[in-house]
Amino acid sequence: MVSFLIKPDAAKSHMPGAIEKFGIMTPQPFPRELLESAANTIFEADGFSAPAWWADHQQSGRGPRP
Ligand code: HEM
Repeated sequence: MVSFLIKPDAAKSHMPGAIEKFGIMTPQPFPRELLESAANTIFEADGFSAPAWWADHQQSGRGPRP
């Protein structure tokens, strides 16, 4: 996630539909330690896991496997 925040790359995205709709997000101009801290906060958040609809979404062929 940190490398994506520094240099968002459509080829590495898990959300091609979002990129089509909104374009690629801008690089986040923060120190690497801050981006690592943000990524850790997201991964360590209570209840962080694949949402129930993710398996069906993958089966539908609408996005690459993570
Ligand atoms: C620290 C701040 C941020 C974090 C941690 C973050 C994280 C992410 C992640 C993990 C994704 C999915 C990447 C994938 O496709 O696999 C994503 C997508 C996206 N983000 Fe961010 N983001 C941040 C800031 C922003 C900001 C400031 C904007 C808008 C100005 C933004 C707009 C988007 C959009 C439009 C997408 C979907 C399309 C794409 O991948 O570019 N993000 N973001």
